[in-house]
Amino acid sequence: MNLKRIETALDVALIRSRAGSCPPKLAAALEYSVKPGGARIRPTICLSVAMACGDDQPRLTDAACTAIELIHCGSLVHDDLPAFDNADTRRGKPSVHKAYSEPLAVLSGDTLIIMAFEQLAVAAAADPERAALLIRELARFSGMPHGICAGQGWESEAVVDLSAYHRAKTGALFTAATRMGAAAAGEDPEAWTELGARIGEAFQVADDLRDALYDEQTLGKPAGQDAVNNRPNAVSELGVQGAIKRLDDILSGAISSIPSCPGEAMLAEMVRKQAERLTPVLPNIAGIKTA
Ligand code: IPE
Ligand code: IPE
Ligand code: MG
Ligand code: MG
Repeated sequence: MNLKRIETALDVALIRSRAGSCPPKLAAALEYSVKPGGARIRPTICLSVAMACGDDQPRLTDAACTAIELIHCGSLVHDDLPAFDNADTRRGKPSVHKAYSEPLAVLSGDTLIIMAFEQLAVAAAADPERAALLIRELARFSGMPHGICAGQGWESEAVVDLSAYHRAKTGALFTAATRMGAAAAGEDPEAWTELGARIGEAFQVADDLRDALYDEQTLGKPAGQDAVNNRPNAVSELGVQGAIKRLDDILSGAISSIPSCPGEAMLAEMVRKQAERLTPVLPNIAGIKTA
């Protein structure tokens, strides 16, 4: 049911983006960039936190979930470009620049970022003060100095602060998800930072494991990229078993960091479900290196 609500809100945003006369190829590239989605983990977290906090302004909650997923989709389109990771596949199909051209991929990423902020501005009538806070949060976790742009920016530095890099590139949008879910429901986002940061950290470890253990067909995007690009990652640092143990530890910490609220038990269940989905199933993987 949550996923249906997220998809419907994304559909509304996409329909709004192509109203009237507009360039058809860019409109198609935008749809292609967002649908069908991946796991929608960030909006699921945002929605779960908002619901746990009462979800008393559903339009703002929908706008927050949509904005976060649009920023995420836009970041993936840009990330796959030849100027960044030069990846030919994403979500099991050709990446946007392969399917539509580089100019349209650049424009799609730009448009998705702009659409994200537009969602929050359009929903502002419901509660302008909350909407302004949500806009600030989204900017903080997608821009500089600590957002996704900062994370991608670290890849152009000779000396990388690894934990700042991971926190900004991957963690930021998870922190945005919990904080914006709370803010959409009128709660102070501060109490929700730790939960988002911990889920983000767990996600990064899980992503490192999947990158090392799975093939391109299973992942739907190029595999083994950390090794190819010589990027520091949890598997090279801790080995497979060590990384799985780290993942477990972080997730237990995430569950115990859930602030007390009416939906506390439901949130713990959501984190457990996501953890199950993120943890690789080792016996199914041939030829793993465990150290
Ligand atoms: C991929 O994120 C990008 C990273 C931050 C590693 P997801 O694995 O959440 O991508 P989708 O949305 O499910 O495709
Ligand atoms: C992409 O990061 C996530 C962004 C912040 C843009 P990666 O390059 O590490 O992830 P994948 O492997 O392409 O999904
Ligand atoms: Mg990248
Ligand atoms: Mg990439």
